[in-house]
Amino acid sequence: MSMTTSKIVEKLLSKVDLASLIGERVKLQRKSGYTVGLCPFHNEKTPSFVVYPRSYFCFGCKKSGDAISFVRETQGMGFVEAIKWLASKYGVDLPELEETSNYKKEQDLGKKLYSALQHAHIMYMNNINLPMGKEAREYLHGRQFSDKDIKEFGFGYAPRGKSVYEACRGLGLTDSEIIQASLSTGSSGRYYDFFQDRFIIPIYDSYSRLVGFSGRALSSEVLPKYKNSRETPLFNKSSILFGFYKAKEAIRKGESAILVEGNLDVYRLWKAGFRGACAGMGTAINEGHLKQVSYFTNKLYLILDGDFAGKKATISTIDIALKVPDLNISVCVLPSGHDPDSFILEYGSDGFKDLVENHSLDLVDYVVGEVLKGATSLEIPHKVSTSILPWLSRLKDPIQRSYLISRISDITGIDAGELHRQLRFVMNSNQGYTGLKRKVDQNVQEQKPVKKLTIELTPLDREFLANLFLLSSDDDTTTLIQRIQEVSSYIRLDESWSVFIKEIISILRQGGSPSDSEIYTKMSSYLDTRVVSFIQWVQKNIKAFTGQDRKLAIENELKEYKKRYYQSEIEQLKMQLSSNPEDSLTILQSISSLNNEIKNL
Ligand code: GTP
Ligand code: MN
Repeated sequence: MSMTTSKIVEKLLSKVDLASLIGERVKLQRKSGYTVGLCPFHNEKTPSFVVYPRSYFCFGCKKSGDAISFVRETQGMGFVEAIKWLASKYGVDLPELEETSNYKKEQDLGKKLYSALQHAHIMYMNNINLPMGKEAREYLHGRQFSDKDIKEFGFGYAPRGKSVYEACRGLGLTDSEIIQASLSTGSSGRYYDFFQDRFIIPIYDSYSRLVGFSGRALSSEVLPKYKNSRETPLFNKSSILFGFYKAKEAIRKGESAILVEGNLDVYRLWKAGFRGACAGMGTAINEGHLKQVSYFTNKLYLILDGDFAGKKATISTIDIALKVPDLNISVCVLPSGHDPDSFILEYGSDGFKDLVENHSLDLVDYVVGEVLKGATSLEIPHKVSTSILPWLSRLKDPIQRSYLISRISDITGIDAGELHRQLRFVMNSNQGYTGLKRKVDQNVQEQKPVKKLTIELTPLDREFLANLFLLSSDDDTTTLIQRIQEVSSYIRLDESWSVFIKEIISILRQGGSPSDSEIYTKMSSYLDTRVVSFIQWVQKNIKAFTGQDRKLAIENELKEYKKRYYQSEIEQLKMQLSSNPEDSLTILQSISSLNNEIKNL
């Protein structure tokens, strides 16, 4: 069944009549036994473009290629796209490429799920203003959220029954799609809504797309207190930072990034003017969360509830933070019994500001302090050697170990040289200890994303991103990375793809390969769902991307981006030409210099 790309290509090209394919775009004629025409790739008055049965060549501009490259060049398609286009045109069956149609199906499903969620959200928001929503509204008033807040934050009410299920059926969704959106549960003919008699909080991903809901019980008798949408193709709990879609804009403008535990705390903080607040989804903080934040700031305040004593800060939080070295984390513990919501209601925003600014500790100081808490000065050396040194010995990076030793020396007063000596002893004696590591690995597995969805990329984008993802740092990528960074402003992809590109560059710089499964799994936990789905598509169709000089392909793709950028600039200038005739000389000069740029690419 398995077929290599070259075999696919071979099979396809044998069915293509190149002269008739090219003849659709270029007027061809027979001349002294050759099929020739005016070259479509450069300007000429006499034909020097020759078409052979399986290839073409221009004696003027030296362009050459086959049917696939002709389609790519003239229609701006990627390699896979061009193959598919030709296959359907010439009725060639390509079982190996069939898989790509799943990509389309996923996109369609994604659109349906998004619209189902949006529709449900509108129903919930509407319900809360009806008599049935009275209890929810009063509950929120009791918690100091006004009608204006309810509207602004998109709070809603989900009644008992199956009104959402029925509405979604009315929109043409199938039972399976409604269940996949986590809006209903049940089976064969007996369905009811997932959220029953709860007040509803919308959950957006960091790209401001509605991906799920959190439903809070209206009384303390009902359990669980919070019920979140199940994991769905759109909703990956561990990668979401609740409220970050809004917080990041504030953080970009210079507000402090604040990470809290509860989602209502986020709204309380926003209301109190701390617009950079966000929360985990009730899961432990992970590297992906911190990475997301680090794209916008290098400083994060971690606010822990006053009942935190029971949960205890763990040394593994430092491990996670060390993986995002760009981010400085300060920890702030609220007084016992308080969370940010109750603290602000009692002490106001000034009280909270004072707490964060004057009573927070660096993460390392805080965690090490917690570990040593309660120990007398005589017990400290023992605690250090039983719990801190074994941890340090498991850190791989010697520079991090050194750094932490000097910090721990400052905190405990134990001489740094002595700590180094003891650490060396521990490291020699406990090789093979992997307890902590195993735990961390398990976390990584839990974060594995479920099936994700995508939206449109141009064929060029797909080729470029796929090749980038498949790069390995073995092929010396230093110059290429530099080129990508130079050209990056011409690549007009939205933030999720820019984050993806940045990540790949940083992995390559560290000597890793993005497609290495371990690295990829980790990276995928904080990538946008569209990106993850795209990568899965690439992996499924990996054969279509092998057998070419990847670095060269990327170089060419970068050129193409630049060219398209210039071309769009030219188009805009041309439009200005008619509206500003008095500037026509300068505009024409600009157009001509842009045309030169294109020629010199
Ligand atoms: P309120 O009691 O409404 O103020 O919530 P809180 O945010 O103060 O709750 P708490 O500190 O108990 O929990 C913090 C966060 O953990 C919540 O915002 C939820 O995201 C999550 N959480 C709490 N309880 C539950 C639960 O029963 N189920 C789930 N899935 N998540 C919960
Ligand atoms: Mn609370």
